[in-house]
Amino acid sequence: MDFKKEISKLLKKEKISIELLQAPPNPEMGDYAIPCFSLSKQLKKSPVEIAKNLQPKFKAKFLEKVEANGPYLNFFINKDIFNKTIIESKIKKKKSNKKTVTMDFSHPNIMKPFGIGHLRSTMIGNSIYKILTFEGYKVIRINHLGDWGTQFGKMIFAFETWGDRKELKKNPLKHMLKIYVKFHKEAEKDPKLVDKGREYFAKLEQGDKKARAYWKEFSDLSLKEYKKIYKRLNVDFDSWAGESFYEPMLKDTINILDKKGIIEESEGALIVNLDKYNMAPCIIQKSDGATIYATRDLAAALYRKKEYKFYKNLYVVDAGQSLHFKQFFKVLELAKYPWAKDNLHISFGKMKFGKGIVMSTRKGKIVFLEEVLDKTVEKVKEIIEEKNPKLKNKDKISEQVGIGSIIFWDLSHDRVKDINFDWETILDFNGETGPYVQYTYARASSILRKVKNNSKVDYSKLINPKEAELIKLIFNFESTIENAAQQYKPSVLAKYLVNLAQKFNEFYQACPVLYEEDKSLAKARLNLVSKTRDILKEGLSLLAISTPEEM
Ligand code: ARG
Repeated sequence: MDFKKEISKLLKKEKISIELLQAPPNPEMGDYAIPCFSLSKQLKKSPVEIAKNLQPKFKAKFLEKVEANGPYLNFFINKDIFNKTIIESKIKKKKSNKKTVTMDFSHPNIMKPFGIGHLRSTMIGNSIYKILTFEGYKVIRINHLGDWGTQFGKMIFAFETWGDRKELKKNPLKHMLKIYVKFHKEAEKDPKLVDKGREYFAKLEQGDKKARAYWKEFSDLSLKEYKKIYKRLNVDFDSWAGESFYEPMLKDTINILDKKGIIEESEGALIVNLDKYNMAPCIIQKSDGATIYATRDLAAALYRKKEYKFYKNLYVVDAGQSLHFKQFFKVLELAKYPWAKDNLHISFGKMKFGKGIVMSTRKGKIVFLEEVLDKTVEKVKEIIEEKNPKLKNKDKISEQVGIGSIIFWDLSHDRVKDINFDWETILDFNGETGPYVQYTYARASSILRKVKNNSKVDYSKLINPKEAELIKLIFNFESTIENAAQQYKPSVLAKYLVNLAQKFNEFYQACPVLYEEDKSLAKARLNLVSKTRDILKEGLSLLAISTPEEM
């Protein structure tokens, strides 16, 4: 039974919009509630009076009672029906809403190591993609690779000067980083090198064959490395159109904006003046004719609107780029695109290591994502070796738990916050962590493996408050995902899952499942275990975390 649907039928009779129906914040207010404030105008009565008048009109078998509580109308579902429905219903993703969302995430910079900084974008983006898909959106995942710009000029020059082919083949990203760092060191002594870099980028932009060949070689090598990481993280994309993809569209983009009359010339450069909005100008073309990051982003936004007709266009990018997005969204607004407001910067804070190491590729200070992943998996292996030495498939499970622990830790924080990396917290099997939730899942699986119970189920026997709490929380699963989707915050779901795991473990401690004598009650509890297990699995999968059956 779909309670929402049933209640909305009753609402329709009273000419009340179903939009008003809410999940109340605490259980005293019932399972559903209607705040009557907005009905006041239409009915010309106070909200309190409206609630009072409406109260006797709602009667149905599935409703235990309906209460008028001040300006609220609270609906209480019959407990037996409620329990049976919640425990036995299948998890269903929503029907397509025919809306497309384009999502720009991960986007590492070619020729540079996949730094831990891009991990946040990848994980947050991937989870938002899954959550929105669950909510019925069609999501296009775009990896807007940083594969164009003056740094490529520097790199080509640097490779020609100091590069070593053998080393490049052996460890492409590390070698490229080494040369890149060398370039910047040398450029400090000899600023002319920067001009060299520019010169080489100009060649690249003009289609110089040799420069393009280098660029292609470096790009391919980098991508190959990134794909190893994506495989490990179980991430994929629908489009790999990086910055270079928009290169052929840049002239047109500039022309279009020029026709709209928003471009000015300033010291030889083309800009959109944003003084009025207290922002530095958005540079569209530098005085040497080179285009920049923002130009490519403008072209990409126009392209995405045309190609995908997006409902929303999301950019999962760190908070350090806030100004860039404000500027470029403003330019779209000034160009009077009605969809300018549909571009959103989904920003996130920094990931910090140890004593506040700030990562800077230029200085070579960078934490390699792969090393962090490997070390985490190693640590998990040690823990498993100690806790459960007889476990089969230790390597595979350590990988699932290790990777899962990092993803969960990242996603359990409100994305806008900075987070401090520390293994002890991340891997605490009893803390608010991925391993804890995964472990709870494995525990539920093991319970289900142990019991055979073919008795008739009796849900009316689920009267322990721990059972009620757990069922109520399961009931909230769908509204939690809705909430996470609305705010583009996987943390809403991650926190919910920790809460669910805790409530499950409390229930399991308070209510016997394996040794309950009353078999129809035991069956009801068993079904509750099974339902919790399903929700944990689905919830973790929306965060892109796998669920080993044993650990
Ligand atoms: N590659 C860029 C960086 O690492 C991020 C790209 C974000 N996406 C965009 N459309 N600007 O800084």
